[in-house]
Amino acid sequence: MSTFQEYLLAKRAVDHRSLNPRVWAALGAAVAQRAGPKGLNVLELGCGVGAMFQRLVGGGVLRQARYTAVDGDADNLDCALSRLPGWSREEGLACQVTPDGAVLEGAGRELSIRLVTADVFAFLDSASTRPDWDLVVAHALLDVVDAPGLLACLARLCRPGCLVYLPIHYDGLTCFEPQIDAAWEETLWHLYHHSMDARPAGGSSQTGRRLYTWLREAGFRLLEAGAADWMVFPRDGAYTPDERLFLDFILDTIDHQLTGHPELDDEAFAGWLSLRRAQVERQELMYVAHQMDYLACLPE
Ligand SMILES: C[S@@+](CC[C@H](N)C(=O)[O-])C[C@H]1O[C@@H](n2cnc3c(N)ncnc32)[C@H](O)[C@@H]1O
Repeated sequence: MSTFQEYLLAKRAVDHRSLNPRVWAALGAAVAQRAGPKGLNVLELGCGVGAMFQRLVGGGVLRQARYTAVDGDADNLDCALSRLPGWSREEGLACQVTPDGAVLEGAGRELSIRLVTADVFAFLDSASTRPDWDLVVAHALLDVVDAPGLLACLARLCRPGCLVYLPIHYDGLTCFEPQIDAAWEETLWHLYHHSMDARPAGGSSQTGRRLYTWLREAGFRLLEAGAADWMVFPRDGAYTPDERLFLDFILDTIDHQLTGHPELDDEAFAGWLSLRRAQVERQELMYVAHQMDYLACLPE
């Protein structure tokens, strides 16, 4: 397992407490309304290590479903597949592993999951013209791809009434406390956001707020939306091991993204990073990232 899979596994707990409860409740109600005897046909794009499938099943949102989970990174899907049997046991589900996923059954629940390694755009291009998806999930994906393009593609493909659940999308605000040099950090965040906006694959540092417009422009009807901020601080004086790994990864990401940036003084940046890392080491840093969740559907 690489650092990225470890990060995705560590991120689960932070995501879980950050998901907007109103949007989650609206998702549960909309899914219950659509659930027929055959269960739901669900597509997840950018599924990582499978955290959202487990959350939807564990949280009782999905009881009968055919779930297709797509990600471009085969190591993520290997990690997701290897964890399914152990997780199913804890959930009280019998798990039969298939060549590309698993069938899970127990206590009135019947689920199948198929894991597909593919670029999400290539996957959608190769999908049939009217795939029978009831729900499409994209969790922390639209801020790293061409979101308007992806939504237009989904609007073209999906049938009327199809739901889209889009949680944890970054919205242009990161802060750390205690403060070090607020004015200098403003410049740092400006460059950090600019580097996100300039990614060749697309993505925007303001995806959270922009989704409001992009969903409407693509023809989706907004059902619910709300903030889903990440907040990590040492509860009772200490981070959990997952929170520690998560914070280390966030600081490494900022390091990786901005080291050598022509508009950033190398020495000042290295000094800032070591002060922030020391705050993590002393278990005193608080990290906040502003994010948004959306639930929408295609009009019937
Ligand atoms: C920030 S991670 C989120 C993963 C997971 N949804 C979660 O929140 O734990 C973004 C995921 O999208 C995948 N991804 C990004 N661009 C992709 C693309 N164009 N096609 C397929 N997967 C992609 C990455 O491999 C990664 O697993």
